[in-house]
Parts: sequence; C-alpha cells; structure tokens
Amino acid sequence: MEGQNKALRRGLIMAKKRISVPFVLRAVLPYFLPDAQELATESVFANYLLGCIERVKPMGARIVLTGSVAKRTFLKNNREVDVFVLFNPEFPKSQFESLMVSIAKSAFPDSTHQLSYAEHPYVRLKVQGHKVDLVPAYDIKDVSGRKSAVDRSVFHTKFVLSKINDKMRQEIVLLKAFLKSNSLYGAEIKFQGFSGYLCELLIIKYGTFAKLLRAASKWKDGVLIDLMNYYRTSSDKGLCVHRFGFFVVIDPTDENRNVAAAVSKSNFDRFRTLASSFLKNPHERFFLSHPPTFEEQISEFYSSKKVSSKSSSKNPLVYLVSLVRPNVVDDVLWGQLRKLISQLEESLSDFGILSVFADDGKHLVRIAIILKKDLLSPSVEIPGPPTSMKEHIVKFRVSHKDGKFSIKKGRLFVKKKRLKRKVMEYLWDFFQNYSRTSKAHLAYPPEMLVIENVTKDFRKMRG
Ligand code: UTP
Ligand code: MN
Ligand code: MN
Repeated sequence: MEGQNKALRRGLIMAKKRISVPFVLRAVLPYFLPDAQELATESVFANYLLGCIERVKPMGARIVLTGSVAKRTFLKNNREVDVFVLFNPEFPKSQFESLMVSIAKSAFPDSTHQLSYAEHPYVRLKVQGHKVDLVPAYDIKDVSGRKSAVDRSVFHTKFVLSKINDKMRQEIVLLKAFLKSNSLYGAEIKFQGFSGYLCELLIIKYGTFAKLLRAASKWKDGVLIDLMNYYRTSSDKGLCVHRFGFFVVIDPTDENRNVAAAVSKSNFDRFRTLASSFLKNPHERFFLSHPPTFEEQISEFYSSKKVSSKSSSKNPLVYLVSLVRPNVVDDVLWGQLRKLISQLEESLSDFGILSVFADDGKHLVRIAIILKKDLLSPSVEIPGPPTSMKEHIVKFRVSHKDGKFSIKKGRLFVKKKRLKRKVMEYLWDFFQNYSRTSKAHLAYPPEMLVIENVTKDFRKMRG
C-alpha cells in the first residue's frame, strides 16, 4: 500500500513536471534555435554578401550587416539577411533609389531584385536561396542627427549586441517563435505585431521568456518599458504614456520613439491573453501550430461563443469580396486595405458588423465581412431638431418632404422609406463610390469584384 502510494505520488510529480513551463520550452527550443553549423554557414554567407557589395559600392559609402543575422537572433532556416549601405549625410535622398538598384545589379548580376517601397526605398534580392534586404541609410554619429527613417537600425544592432548573451539569444528565439506561431510577429502593416527589435528589448528587460510572460499576463493598458530611464518622474511617465498609447517600449537609442508603436490594440490584448493561457496550461502547440488560415479565422469566429451567445447575432452572415491583387509591396497593399476596410465598416454600420477579416494571396485579395443581418427595415426614423427651434424645423421639413413626421418628447422625427435595404446594394454602391474617389490600387469598380454571400459554407461547419 505504502509502496503503491509512493509510486502514485512519483507519477503525479512526473506528470506535473512534464507539463511545466521549462519542460515545454526545453522541448520546443531545438525546433527554432539554429545549430552551430547553421550559424557558421549564415556567417560565411553574410561575409560573402558584404564582399560582393563592398566591391561595387560608391566611394565613401560604408557597408554594414544589421538585423537578426548581425545579432545572431534569427530563427532556424531564417534565410533572410539585412545589409545596410550607409551614405554620407550630405548625400541626396532622391538618389537612394537608383543607386541601390545599380549596386544590386552590379554586385549580383544573376539575381532577381525588386525595388520595394513603403516609406523608404530598399532593394529586395534573392541570392543563393536567401532573401537579402539591401537598405540605404545615413552614416550618422548619433541618433539625434537622424535623416532617414531607418538610420537608427545600426544603433539598434550595437545596443542589442552590447546587452545580450547566448542564453538570452535562446529566449529571444523562443519569443519570436511563440509570436510567429500565433500571427503576432512582424511590425509590417499586414501583421501589426512585434518586430524583431521589440522582442530583443523585451528579453533584455525581463531576462527570460517565462518572466516576460509572467509580467505580460499582468500588464494593464499603458504599460511603459523604458530601459534607459529617460522618463524618470511619475509625471514624465504619465505624459509619455499619454503621448504613445497603451503599449510603450521606449527605444534605448531614441527617447522619442516607441518601438511597440506598430502593435495594434487587439494584438496587444491577444498577447496578454496568450501569456496567461500558456502559463496556466503550458503546451507545445503554442509554438508549433500554424497560424489559422483565412477560412479558419472566419469559421473560428463564426462558431465562437462571442457570436453565438449574443441572441441578436445568432445567425450571422458572411459576405466575401474578392479583388485582383495589385502588383505592389505588402506594406502599400495592407496600408490601403486597412483604410478601405475602415471606410467599408463605416458605410455598413447599420447592418451590425461583427468582424472583418482580410487576406492576400498570390493573385487575390479577399475581405470577409461578418454581419448580424443583411437586410435593413423597410423604413427608417431620423431624429430632427427640438420643436422649439423654429428655423431648424422648417429646414428639416423641407429636406425630408417625402417623409412622415411625428413629435415625440418635444422633438420632431421623420419616418422615411429606405431606398436601399440589401447589404449587396450597399456593397455595390460603396465600391462604385470608392473606385471614383480613391486613388488606391484597390479602387476597382464593382463590376471587377466578386461579391458573394458565403454564409452557408460556415453555417454547415457550425452544424
Ligand atoms: P527585419 O524586419 O529584417 O528584422 O529588420 P530582424 O531584426 O532582422 O528580425 P528577423 O529575424 O529578420 O525577423 C531588420 C532591420 O532592418 C531595417 C529595420 O529597421 C530593422 O532594424 N529594415 C528592414 C528596413 O529598414 N527596411 C526594411 O524593409 C526591412
Ligand atoms: Mn532580418
Ligand atoms: Mn529584413
């Protein structure tokens, strides 16, 4: 009996150990941490790249390796290298573009390259199966002399290298992998998540991934991380949060920059929730599952409690708009897409929008709109001015001649027949208007779109 109890207790301890946070982290780390061989190959490759560019660079320019390869904080099979070409601050910005293209052409004549643009021109190359970002910037002595958006990068690399060791590199890799698996990694407009540099700063602040998660699970809106103590007094801190928002990580190389600025509110909230759920129930799937596809996101939302518990939205509708993907870089596309979506949400607000999802593939951009209803009431009641405001009353009556008027609680109301009731009509008109007024690449006339009600595909899944 005694022996049996002991065995049982040992079993329980073992089971507990199996699912502990350190156990899971140790188990997943080898999937993401580059081994010695990969580190060596990457560094040889980086040196080869630098050599090629060095030979063709313009006089006076300086070539430096930056990004995660320079810091050795990249994920296994990363195959992406960031190389900066630093110019004298006198050099005109207008020449960056053509000069970078000609550097790329002469250094790598056999490679395909693409001039990419969001705010700052840079060239993206494919060299021996690696993605190479070739970025122009200014060679400045300190960040205050900054002249272009990316001049801080070289300082970021120096700062991080001065603060981390190999143990912290492992923690950074774990954080990046955790975020990636949950579609929270990347400061690009498409992801609105955590940049590589932000990950590095968070580990520098908290020391380990587990400690970061413990802190994050308790974060409130307005968290301020200021490694250099630029903001000392509580009033400084308050002003800083007021200026930068709900999630503030002050750039150690520039007190006027929030490194977490790209993180959207919903992604900040998701990170906090994920941190708590992982700590409560540590599991490998937090690292190893792939982010949900577009269809999975929709059906997950469709069948979630959030939707089904609200009686008013028991049977939501899913409308899908498909557009041809314009040939522009992701940041431009997603910048325009997010704008389009917020305007679309506004114009469809009467239908009770529950959520909107977007996706870009090789050929198509798709927008899924989940609505409470797709048909509005036959008439609508519009509140007018109080009856005491004689002049306004007259104007109101004139502009709504065809309506039925009534007075309630001292205010004039008019009831009017709706000209449009169906969401399909609203969508058509929205894109008609958008294609006429917007200069965006996505401003297609409605004849060029496919707009469909795909509710049944998701209702089936919900059963
Ligand atoms: P990355 O996005 O490549 O991040 O930007 P990273 O730290 O190397 O992390 P991973 O492992 O690749 O995800 C590296 C640096 O290059 C600059 C950024 O400012 C950043 O400091 N950069 C990157 C640009 O200036 N322009 C770009 O288009 C890309
Ligand atoms: Mn990189
Ligand atoms: Mn890059």
